[in-house]
Amino acid sequence: MAYSSQIPKRANRPFHGGVSLAELNALGLTREEVIDFSVNINPLGPPPGVAAALSRVNIAAYPDPECREIREMISRLTGVSPGQIVIGNGSTELIHLLAHTYLGKGSQALIMVPTFAEYETAARLAGAGVVLQEAVEENDFIWDMSAVCREVRHRQPGLVFLCQPNNPTGRYLEREAVESLAEAAGQGLLVLDEAYISFVYEAWDSCQLLSQGNVVVLRSMTKDYALTGLRLGYALCPAGVARALSVSKPSWSVNAVAQAAGLTALADREHLLRGISCVQEGRGYLHLELGALGYKVLPSVANFLLVKVGGAAALRKRLLRRGVCVRDCTSFGLSEYIRIGVRTLPECQRLLEVLREVK
Ligand SMILES: Cc1ncc(COP(=O)(O)O)c(C=O)c1O
Repeated sequence: MAYSSQIPKRANRPFHGGVSLAELNALGLTREEVIDFSVNINPLGPPPGVAAALSRVNIAAYPDPECREIREMISRLTGVSPGQIVIGNGSTELIHLLAHTYLGKGSQALIMVPTFAEYETAARLAGAGVVLQEAVEENDFIWDMSAVCREVRHRQPGLVFLCQPNNPTGRYLEREAVESLAEAAGQGLLVLDEAYISFVYEAWDSCQLLSQGNVVVLRSMTKDYALTGLRLGYALCPAGVARALSVSKPSWSVNAVAQAAGLTALADREHLLRGISCVQEGRGYLHLELGALGYKVLPSVANFLLVKVGGAAALRKRLLRRGVCVRDCTSFGLSEYIRIGVRTLPECQRLLEVLREVK
């Protein structure tokens, strides 16, 4: 007897950045030979103490399912109480947990696009309908917030997803706009995905919005501390939401190695600050030099830049053959754009050199 798939028809596996081993093999390249600008992470890599911390972990013991130590540390850093913090196997796990807990057949998720693909996949897997609110190129990818709030008020979706700053456009909304959105969401939850917030210069403090009762803030430690392969993220939320998410979460989804790495990384704020200043330097350089090459570069407050290049897929391929990987934004619906994750200045200079060769 053949089993039928339970996957909702329109839930596609989301496409992400990162270099594919199969593609590199076909080009005769190894991972070490490629500079990866297709992901947006701290260009300095993980803090130096992480490797030693990992070697001390007793991997024969179960990890703490409640991630107490790390929640307490995040509490000290953010001022949010440990009971309002949930740790995830990357913030991706938390996006799926939110969808699983708060969406279902007959409900809707409203997603502000173009954006990270995982929100839509998670909503569809939960059986929900999806409403997209699009920021268009003609308006420099800035949303019409009155129209978005009207739609949210009218539809009352179970979840509203806003990526702040937005991947891939680098747009960042001011506090007043986000407060209006939360107010419009009413009984629904506004999910503010702040995966890249650390790289925003003088970001406003979204933790204050938690008192509105319907806002969840997501943060990713895979970006701040380049723990991409270990998977670690957290949600700051109203206590009731934290309890509901904790019930749905598989007990040991955050392993002992990730917890140890997270504790060590969070204690090394200097490393994050060095990564941030490295990004500021690289971003300024790239903005200027890409503009001088004749490309349209969108203003970005984040650690990545959206660049209009014409045929993104073909340019990405030409660059990859020369050991440089950028993100082709076709999967965001932007086939004329690439996204460049800012890296160290010498790496950015190498990117420009290769771009000049293939242009
Ligand atoms: C906006 C956004 N949110 C979340 C994630 C996932 O982060 P994590 O590695 O913490 O699962 C990404 C990864 O690319 C992202 O771009």
